[in-house]
Amino acid sequence: MAKLEVLNPATNDVIETLEYTDEATINKQIENAQKAFESWREVDAHTRSQKLWAWSKLIDEHKEELAELITKEGGKPLKEALGEVDYARSYVDWYAEEAKRIYGRTIPANTTSKKIIVQSFPVGVVGAITPWNFPAAMITRKMAPALAAGCTIVCKPAVQTPLTTIRLVELAHEAGIPEDAIQYVIASGKDAGRIFTESSIIQKITFTGSTPVGKKLIEGASSSVKNVTMELGGLAPLIVHKDADIDFAVDQTIATKFRNAGQTCICANRIYVHEAIASTYVEKLSQKVNALKVGNGLDKGVDIGPLINQKGVDKVIDQIKDAVSKGGKLSRSLEDIESLGGNFLKPVVISNVNQDMIIMHEETFGPVAPVMSYSKLDDAIQYANDTEFGLAAYFFTKDYATGFYLYDNLDYGVIGWNDGGPSAAHAPFGGMKESGYGREGGIEGIQPYLETKYLSIGNM
Ligand code: SIN
Repeated sequence: MAKLEVLNPATNDVIETLEYTDEATINKQIENAQKAFESWREVDAHTRSQKLWAWSKLIDEHKEELAELITKEGGKPLKEALGEVDYARSYVDWYAEEAKRIYGRTIPANTTSKKIIVQSFPVGVVGAITPWNFPAAMITRKMAPALAAGCTIVCKPAVQTPLTTIRLVELAHEAGIPEDAIQYVIASGKDAGRIFTESSIIQKITFTGSTPVGKKLIEGASSSVKNVTMELGGLAPLIVHKDADIDFAVDQTIATKFRNAGQTCICANRIYVHEAIASTYVEKLSQKVNALKVGNGLDKGVDIGPLINQKGVDKVIDQIKDAVSKGGKLSRSLEDIESLGGNFLKPVVISNVNQDMIIMHEETFGPVAPVMSYSKLDDAIQYANDTEFGLAAYFFTKDYATGFYLYDNLDYGVIGWNDGGPSAAHAPFGGMKESGYGREGGIEGIQPYLETKYLSIGNM
């Protein structure tokens, strides 16, 4: 049986060795999920809600343990990992309540002898594929609405971070959610993608990850017309207009840009600052960014942990070198950025940036903040929208007319106005264009797990 070594990105030590789930077992698990679906769908909404609340309670009771796992396998600082556990739990809480709000409606018919009733039903067995950057939150964001809707779910966590998923699933079972209603498999993305899309049992695929992989899954799912939700790549612009509170914008930029060492789909990838304030903004941002503490996420006071692996480090370094070769100025030298070795990179601000640099067009997934100045707001909007991505965007202005103008004209699904942390379980997270489709969170987030059926009752 092939083995998976789970590494700690801070040390590259093996923290656990797991067996890959073979194909026959995965298919058996999917069959079991179908059997479990037949009974879970019959469990009334209030009982499903109570089970989700019981899961939430256990997640809270195991908060420190889960956070430590997240830090060990994913690298993010412990304080961030603790925040992620709360964030993950907030999806369970939200959908524990939404389970009870799957309302139907009646439609006035075109004759008094008829009645039309509309109701929502669970889609069936769900196949979920989740990323390594939020090992807990991306699991609950999919599992909680699926279970609330009455679906059962088989999840394939990222091979870098399966341990948090395993523990979350164990806690769900402990909470009374039937074992086959919520399962995980250990597999490569390629294998799970193929098995899930080829399965005649799985009715829905939900994926968070890169756009190229998302496209392959959409293609695979199309042969059996499976329902899909895709939360794909981003290239978030962040605009700081001339009337913004600069100190506040700097702090919020750091909050979005350096969360998880810049390894989030919604972190600011490109920063556009009005020319009147650009040098002050760069100076203040550089000072604070250069002071951020980098190290093992388990150590006290660490703000930025390691990147997930060497491939991630190489990509970031290539983008920095490209920017420098095109005139970019670094807030610290390249030697200093790389000085800690391993998967660690010290954070850096790049100023004197232009649109020709790779960093302005390709997702970075690292602790680099490139800043370009603009003179007209419409130019900043045009730069911001000049991408195939449309996940998240940010802007800073105290002026309402400017704010709503930006909101109306930025082609993004998640927008933060004077807010570097817009994500919330009660809001519909998701992107436009090649950043995917479907929404997770909010009242919208349960819809992808439901089918609409209507009943037209004629003369009785
Ligand atoms: C992501 O980056 O994939 C998710 C970020 C979030 O939920 O805030």
